Amino acid sequence: MKESISKPIQRVDGPAKISGEARYIGDMHFENRLYAKTLRSTRAKARILSVKKPPLPRNYFIVGKDDVPGVNRMRTVVSDHPIFAEDTVEYIGQPILLVVGPEREKIYDIITKIKVEYEDLPALFTLEDAEKNSEVFTDYHYEKGEPQRAFGEAATIVEDEFRTGYQEHVYLEPQGMTAEFRDDTMFVYGSMQCPFYAEGALTEALGWPAERIRVIQTVTGGAFGGKEEFPSLTACQVAVAALKTGRPVTMIYDRDEDIICSTKRHPSIVRYKAALNRNQDIVALEIDVLLDAGAYNGLSPVVLQRSMFSATGVYNFPHLKVRGRNFMTNNVPSGAYRGFGAPQTIFGTEMMLHNIALKLGIDPLEYKMRHALKRGDPTCTGGKIRDIVKLPEIVKRVTQMSGYHDKRKNGQKYHGIGISLFLHGCGFTGNGEQTIGSKIILKKEGEKVILKVSSTEMGQGAETVLRKIVAYTVDIPFENVIYESVDTGKVPDSGPTVASRTTMIVGGLLQQAGLELKDRWHEADKIEVTRTYRHPDYIDWNNDTFQGDAYPTYSWGANVAEVEIDPVTYEIDVKKISAVYDVGLPIDETALRGQMQGGIVQGIGWATIEVMKTDEGRLIQKNLTDYKVPTSMDVPEVECDFINNPYEFGPFGAKCAGELPFVGSPPAVAAAVSNALGVPIRSIPITPEMLMEMDSDEN
Ligand code: MOS
Repeated sequence: MKESISKPIQRVDGPAKISGEARYIGDMHFENRLYAKTLRSTRAKARILSVKKPPLPRNYFIVGKDDVPGVNRMRTVVSDHPIFAEDTVEYIGQPILLVVGPEREKIYDIITKIKVEYEDLPALFTLEDAEKNSEVFTDYHYEKGEPQRAFGEAATIVEDEFRTGYQEHVYLEPQGMTAEFRDDTMFVYGSMQCPFYAEGALTEALGWPAERIRVIQTVTGGAFGGKEEFPSLTACQVAVAALKTGRPVTMIYDRDEDIICSTKRHPSIVRYKAALNRNQDIVALEIDVLLDAGAYNGLSPVVLQRSMFSATGVYNFPHLKVRGRNFMTNNVPSGAYRGFGAPQTIFGTEMMLHNIALKLGIDPLEYKMRHALKRGDPTCTGGKIRDIVKLPEIVKRVTQMSGYHDKRKNGQKYHGIGISLFLHGCGFTGNGEQTIGSKIILKKEGEKVILKVSSTEMGQGAETVLRKIVAYTVDIPFENVIYESVDTGKVPDSGPTVASRTTMIVGGLLQQAGLELKDRWHEADKIEVTRTYRHPDYIDWNNDTFQGDAYPTYSWGANVAEVEIDPVTYEIDVKKISAVYDVGLPIDETALRGQMQGGIVQGIGWATIEVMKTDEGRLIQKNLTDYKVPTSMDVPEVECDFINNPYEFGPFGAKCAGELPFVGSPPAVAAAVSNALGVPIRSIPITPEMLMEMDSDEN
């Protein structure tokens, strides 16, 4: 058993059997159940003057705002999204009410017969318009050093601006939820990342104590952040419906509905103003981050924070001024998506450095490394880089693997190579981990250990990794570690499964508890050990001034992308991604490689083919025919390596890994495209149309 933990599990009962036992919410049976479908706003911003309902057949119900016994708001960071629309609607697709009944055909028929009378109101659709109208939800800023003085003394000042677009998660399993009211308790089953978020939302919507609410995660077919906060909304809706009808109520979205109304990655504009000294080094930087939060703020303030605290990437700019704003528009609300705001600013910062280097005639990699963070340096928020920084080794390995230097020298038009350097803050941003104070339980029962956490498996391998940590620590076979089903009635709140926190934070607690359990193993047949998370003592963060350590530690990486551009169609063919990461230590290298490959490909999609635009608040690409995501045919060769750099407080040295690969591939691909055509890239997705225009301008 005591081989390196990174190796695949050696099962005592032979290879895993495929049995088809996974039951998604759509596979579950409930006696006497009803189905629900949502009537949605067709207007971007309007007052609801009246809702005319047809006579309802027996066993059919309409469920709306007046049926919510508690607060008609979905609880999240900013609890502003109504569970059911009240006097106004603020975006196309906003839920107004549910039609509930036994037969779907009839439900659809009733929906078409409901007439909503609207009075249209002036609406805002773009970040530019929202900025002009000062429709700001959140306005943050922080500073480091003396930016004003540094700009005054600058030899040169360079400005640049970057844009990124929407991205839809396209988890394979759409959103789905069932509520059942029995034994004076509301049971809610569904596909989700954060059962305790849903529980919290339900306590407010129902006005009930948590003891009367049970949220049970069902097998979850992908999430990527799209099942972080959004399921809290559908959970509240079906619960209200179950309460009103006295029967279980299931609501499962089809793909088109899911795309239209669920949260997406925030579109962004990021502006830079850099002060260069006589050696052409950046001594001061001003960054202005604008995110399109959509119609409600929700958890966008925290997305904005990660965006701002990641904005300096792997670099140390001595003087810094960062502003970030979330804007209100009448678009579908933006929300959590793998990377959580960091991909937008890391893209901008990488391309800003790339563009300046090319203008100065310096190799972009050399120019970037001149600014690279070293151990002991201050972070952008005045914290400290305490752990060993292996960026030089990472860069050396990735350039060797890819033949970066030779290929750059021998470049030909339409063939490009580009590099990105990046990091990701591990765990919650700011004081998140301190506020949540994750709890875990390990329970010995005979030869077995029951692992109780609220961390959810959604295809990323959390269950494998956490069971492995316990098995290795207690020194028992993997099969003897039982992962308790994630049910708020059975497991403690170990926090949401987000922010690349599960392996490092929850896994770290499990390792500590496992060590105690191993020590006490022979004391009794039944032993229970618990742990509660506390940051390492040296971490200091002020959430009012944004000063201190925004993250306990960071994972790092570098990507080299090689692309070919079709000289006629200007389609981008990503040939190869070479990737090297420092994630501390891999807990399971197989699962980790899966994360890296998936994250890289998802990033390539965002950077190239995933075009999603709106026309006056209406999504133009609203189904999978029009919204293209990478398929197996679009996956490049991925060569991936890890540099171990164990983190003192991570289990076996592990840090964060889930979001890191997403952050890295978009700027690498953009840099390669820039290299292939000799043009600057300032916006993603990089479409063939954009390239064709830029290339003909060049000639
Ligand atoms: Mo995530 S994007 O922190 O669910």
